[in-house]
Amino acid sequence: MDDARMPLPFVLLAALLAVLPLGNGKPARSPNAEMRVAQAQAAGTTLWWQNAVFYEIYPRSFKDSNGDGIGDLNGITEKLDYLHDLGVDAIWITPFYPSPQVDFGYDISDYENVDPQFGTLGDFDRLLAEAHRRDIKVLMDMVLNHTSDKHPWFIESRSSRTNPKRDWYIWRDGKDARPPNNWISEFGGPAWTLDPKTGQWYYHFFYSQQPDLNWRNPAVEKAMFDQCRFWLERGVDGFRLDAVANLFEDPQLHDNPVLPEFVAGSTTEHAENNVYNYDLPEVHTELQGLLKVEDFYPGRVLVGETWPKTMDGLLKYYGPDKNELQLPFNFFFTKVPKFDAVAFRSEVEMTRKVLDDHPTTWVVSNHDLVRAYTRYADGKHNDQIAKILATMLLTLPGTPFLYYGEEIGMQNNDPKTVEEVRDPVGRREWPVNKGRDGERTPMQWSSGPNAGFTSGKPWLGVPPSAETHNVEAESRDPSSILNYYKALLRLRRQSPALLSGQYETLGDDPHVFAYLRRTESQTVLVGLNLSAEKQTIPLDKTALEGRQLKLALSSVRCPGQVLQGNELELAPFEASICTTP
Ligand code: GLC
Ligand code: CA
Repeated sequence: MDDARMPLPFVLLAALLAVLPLGNGKPARSPNAEMRVAQAQAAGTTLWWQNAVFYEIYPRSFKDSNGDGIGDLNGITEKLDYLHDLGVDAIWITPFYPSPQVDFGYDISDYENVDPQFGTLGDFDRLLAEAHRRDIKVLMDMVLNHTSDKHPWFIESRSSRTNPKRDWYIWRDGKDARPPNNWISEFGGPAWTLDPKTGQWYYHFFYSQQPDLNWRNPAVEKAMFDQCRFWLERGVDGFRLDAVANLFEDPQLHDNPVLPEFVAGSTTEHAENNVYNYDLPEVHTELQGLLKVEDFYPGRVLVGETWPKTMDGLLKYYGPDKNELQLPFNFFFTKVPKFDAVAFRSEVEMTRKVLDDHPTTWVVSNHDLVRAYTRYADGKHNDQIAKILATMLLTLPGTPFLYYGEEIGMQNNDPKTVEEVRDPVGRREWPVNKGRDGERTPMQWSSGPNAGFTSGKPWLGVPPSAETHNVEAESRDPSSILNYYKALLRLRRQSPALLSGQYETLGDDPHVFAYLRRTESQTVLVGLNLSAEKQTIPLDKTALEGRQLKLALSSVRCPGQVLQGNELELAPFEASICTTP
């Protein structure tokens, strides 16, 4: 029996039992988490994040308020009305802490402040208050695995072998003149750097300027949990936790198995099977501890950057009793290799089969991935394809994460020459890997200079498509991607079936992905034609047989039409949503 069907007294009893310490001395589930779920269920309500639409902001590229070519917190505050009108419920802002910016903010040198190029703590407080005033929640990005090499902790740690902070990072002797083992960095080369001053090597899964913290040291755990509390006290609504699978490494430092397909000179991502420094079981116990920190701050949410190798691995991130991450990212969806109905349908079914009643996230783009607009473009129907992707994201059962600019059909704008590249991995691995600049270009606000992002020189250039794909132009065009997103978000908010209805796949057509979302009072049919030909969805022998349907939204037709008959016709690349009246 799952919690949802348990009568309240049993839920409370279960809560009590769950906090009794287990063998490892840690309570299986913290009381507040259990109580929160129980209270929400008893009241027949859901927690805010279960139905929320999240929007990722890369602050460097969203809106520059002071003309230095770099986006900032005040720029985000300026655009909160836009986000409110768009209809998102929460924003996740990637790191804006003080940082040398080697990895553009993911190398943090002070967890309790704001980098001057992004603003001040006061600016952040204002942003948070203004967002809350508009009912928009704010998530911080928390980098637990590593700090910048300029963080005072690391400066102390590297100063001598006997420094009290030495053991806050992972220091080892080399093998003669070679690194301690064969582990490689995500961004290329060995994951170890020799520090000549003390003659030892330190470990870094990412750039050498991002030394890994030693999470086996309780002082590190305490310090990092305190950093989380700092922002929770300020009122943030949760965290997107960066690179969580990296928190622990094998203390014996076994070599990772080298993959046979490794080709020297290629990108290093798949050069070895990182069984000894990735996704270790200790990660899970640690994250369960973090949820307890959040428990003192009800209503907060933990989203995790989770890249397990299998869907079963993803399931583990929810915790044995849903006591770990509330929303681990489901990145398998970003791996669907082509714009194909069968491929998307089977990915959705696989997700649902394995994750069962665990709420999943849906995401197609972020600051590390080529934008979905570009990945799935066919050169002729790009905007129609973008609308189909939007429909999927916002109507599948789960929590959607949009990436800034997705709602206006922003495309990747990759650097043309190696000299232009800003992301160090792109310089290192050019031209096989051009780095991540292409998906991080300035938000396109207008067709004015630099797409209205800055009055100065933008840190990255905008593509020619900014002329047509920008907020100002698209706001005026009823058939734009932007207006489609707005209508879709509005419909989602008003539809109980889209928010929490049961999911059911319809048919196995090679060109059409169709499904129902159902509650007792409403059935919604989502029909997506992923082909350039007309298609038909037969509705006989489905829950909709003989029912009258209203076209609530279509990417090619005007809504409102009442549909009769036992089939639904779809125009080429049409996304349509029909509801029972
Ligand atoms: C995560 C971030 C990525 C960053 C890395 C190191 O994968 O999303 O942008 O480079 O962590 O912090
Ligand atoms: Ca680590």
